[in-house]
Amino acid sequence: MNKHLSTNSPRTFDRLNHVHGQTNLRGHQDNGPTAMVINGRGVRFVTDEGQSIIDGFSGLGCVSLGYHNDRLAEAAMRQMQELPFAPTFYGRSHPKVAELAHTLTSKAAVPFEKAMFQCSGSEANDTMIKFIWARNIARGQPQRRRMISRWRGYYGNTVAAVALSGQPHMHANFGLPMDDFLKLSTPNYYLNAADGESEEEFSERMATEFENAVLDAGPDTIAAFFAEPMQSGGGAIRPPQGYWDAMQAVIRKYDIHFHVDETVTGFGRTGHYWGAQAFDLMPDSTTCAKALTAAFFPMSAVMFRQDLYDDLMKNSDAAGVLGHGFTYAGHPVGAAVALEALSIYDDIDLVGHVQRVSKPFLAGCEALLDHPLVGDVRGIGLFCGIQIVQDKARRALWDPKLKVGTMVQDRAHARGLYLRSIPPDRISFMPPLIISQDEISEATAILKAALDDVWEEVKGRA
Ligand SMILES: Cc1ncc(COP(=O)(O)O)c(C=O)c1O
Repeated sequence: MNKHLSTNSPRTFDRLNHVHGQTNLRGHQDNGPTAMVINGRGVRFVTDEGQSIIDGFSGLGCVSLGYHNDRLAEAAMRQMQELPFAPTFYGRSHPKVAELAHTLTSKAAVPFEKAMFQCSGSEANDTMIKFIWARNIARGQPQRRRMISRWRGYYGNTVAAVALSGQPHMHANFGLPMDDFLKLSTPNYYLNAADGESEEEFSERMATEFENAVLDAGPDTIAAFFAEPMQSGGGAIRPPQGYWDAMQAVIRKYDIHFHVDETVTGFGRTGHYWGAQAFDLMPDSTTCAKALTAAFFPMSAVMFRQDLYDDLMKNSDAAGVLGHGFTYAGHPVGAAVALEALSIYDDIDLVGHVQRVSKPFLAGCEALLDHPLVGDVRGIGLFCGIQIVQDKARRALWDPKLKVGTMVQDRAHARGLYLRSIPPDRISFMPPLIISQDEISEATAILKAALDDVWEEVKGRA
């Protein structure tokens, strides 16, 4: 027993012994967890203080089916009893992972023949980076190594995935990113458009920046462009009109591999099965994770076409094997849970449900534009970004030191709604996909009340 422990409570253990990611370490060591979640039901979780909170952030954009599901629990239990583990190295397999590879690829937004499994979105993105490099080596183009992504993009925390990510706080203290990872502007029309610039003009400007970056680096050094259909960790940033058409024209012109990261947007979040369908994207490969198992088990996948596999085969012919893989890749319990989740999505017509409830959801969010603190509301499906501003006329942000977005997040939490404020003061609102219309009304009313609370506190400084 740690001699510093004064009590045996989980909060004390957590404060003294547990290291948290994406958390202020000093604040945690001094004050302990910001919430200790005990259990959940539907779209709500319950804390050790007895508070029942609507999860407006779906955990981390992952609890698509909420906090309780008998079918998923039983699928996991059955699989644990039947076959708790089987490796997928050395060509070994088990029925559930084979069936999942078949089912998942058959549901892909574009024809993909192949799927490979990992445990997280980060590992999936690292896998794709390596595969794209490997393909270029197999094709005799080893100099094609440069990866292009966007500022505020979020692709994970492993060394390569974080190099793709456009989040400076995830780079600075780690001596990252490495060379070969180039960044483009985030397509945040509201904050980054010039005065009088239309959405289409802004989109063309973004595409021109992309083309110039390709030309500056040398088109024959570019390996891939990685993108989320709608940026998530960057603050729920829906791209403006014309953006994806203009960007995809550059991708086609320079024959750039287009990897679409559907870690958050996959399985219905946008009111389409895939974000690629919502925004008419033609990916060469895709990452999915999170809702793949409704977050009941850590699992992710990459999907791609046979032609990439053919190139990887050349490498494996030369080396003897594909020199890549994770112990828990294609875990039988994860595969069983994923198969059950995909079957539930079909049985309850989850995408149809999201399409229906997204109308009141987005209308409720857009009504907040009347609030003095809200400058921009942009969303699709059950995925919305709400920009808090100091001065709407000038699109001026609050001094970051005031942490006005965090104040909104905290007041909402105190009133029973969990959401995240992402710098600069952008509220990301993405509830579980099973949320009902009544729960949407309740959640948006809480958000409005939280905005009122904060406005009372800060209006003197506006
Ligand atoms: C778009 C996207 N890609 C990748 C990741 C990383 O996933 P993980 O945390 O499972 O490694 C995330 C995490 O939120 C994400 O939003």
